[in-house]
Amino acid sequence: MDQELAKARGFKGEISVPPDKSISHRAVMLASLSEGKSVVRNFLMAEDPISTMNAMKMLGTEIKEENHGEITIKGRGLYGLKEPLDVINCNNSGTTIRLISGILAGNPFFSVLTGDSSLRQRPVARIINPLKDMGADISGRNENKYPPIAIKGRRLNAINYTMPVASAQIKSCLILAALYADGTTVITEPFKSRDHTERMLASTGVEIEVNGFTIKVNGQGPSRGLNAFDITIPADFSSAAFFIVAATIIPNSEILIKNVGINPTRTGLLEVIREMGASVRLEDIRDVSGEPVANIYCKTADCLKAAKISEETIPSLIDEFPALCVLATQAEGITEIRGAEELRVKETDRIKAMMLGLKKLGAEVKQYHDGVAIKGKAALKGSHVESYGDHRIAMSLSIAALVAEGTTTINNASCVNVSFPGFYEELKGLTF
Ligand code: S3P
Repeated sequence: MDQELAKARGFKGEISVPPDKSISHRAVMLASLSEGKSVVRNFLMAEDPISTMNAMKMLGTEIKEENHGEITIKGRGLYGLKEPLDVINCNNSGTTIRLISGILAGNPFFSVLTGDSSLRQRPVARIINPLKDMGADISGRNENKYPPIAIKGRRLNAINYTMPVASAQIKSCLILAALYADGTTVITEPFKSRDHTERMLASTGVEIEVNGFTIKVNGQGPSRGLNAFDITIPADFSSAAFFIVAATIIPNSEILIKNVGINPTRTGLLEVIREMGASVRLEDIRDVSGEPVANIYCKTADCLKAAKISEETIPSLIDEFPALCVLATQAEGITEIRGAEELRVKETDRIKAMMLGLKKLGAEVKQYHDGVAIKGKAALKGSHVESYGDHRIAMSLSIAALVAEGTTTINNASCVNVSFPGFYEELKGLTF
């Protein structure tokens, strides 16, 4: 499906964006490993978390979909999962394949994980190598580089591991595997990535110690179960980010986004965008199920100036890179984003995809191996652009379309369903 979008005169309204994708994945996985019934409210019914839900069902978990995004999960305990009868298809979801691999490495049966053509080109040596260090029997296609992944689970041993890249998927995979290990696993990351797994695991009663960039988790013997939990998932900051950028760069804009997760490991964009001159305010900050939540008010910026973003900031805005590139086209001066090589191994090469898209719309851009330089303020002009089947590229280019003269067509636009079903309807509802 192609999507056509015209230049906007303004952008106004009060909105809710979909529930958090990262937290939705983790809620289904941890509830499945818990003892008893968990209730997950405001679960994200989008393609990615549905892949996790289906995977956990194949492993024997009973999941019931109630009304209004509420699901109930009957946990099977850490040692109660069963061997799947078929290959588990994680579709487009990197979080599903990497986190579930950690669980399966410790479960005594055979399983195979695969995905769509994008996921089958994404690196998994980053989880296979440390899991092998823990004693796992795990292998992947092309000398352990890519999915499919085959696992024959067994009891693991604890390791002391320093991660080469800051990645919540690697960290969470190892934390989950550590539950099945003898002894204490120690994981250190170079910079802090999102910490939803650590927070949620603590709420199930597991002792998990976080000290700066280092995490310590004890293996849980068969007698030490995880407690079931009730959780309400906040709206996804990474989905809100598209609207924050839109309101900042479109004239005559004023929006309020309700109940958004503002976990500091996720909100690097807020600091950067404010430094660039945006007008964003957090209202009614509160705690919901162990995560900080707020309403986000945002209006057109009076004047935007370029920024320099480097390696240490990247993990806290990893998924906001495409939206930030759009923002940079409307800021006076040259915005440089470096230390962002990880963006090359997302659902698509997001550095390349954004540079090609923005160039097509008339922006002056330069690509580095680890980032970009974008010159603003650019007068964008509507064109045909390519999403590469990547939800965040499609949504970012849609925001660029709203400030581009004329009409822009985004191809393969339905990929937004991975994280944000209804994105275009929501966008059009705010645009005038
Ligand atoms: C995620 C972690 C990040 C992020 C992805 C979701 C998670 O990936 O880009 O969208 O839920 O743990 P990396 O861990 O590969 O950086």
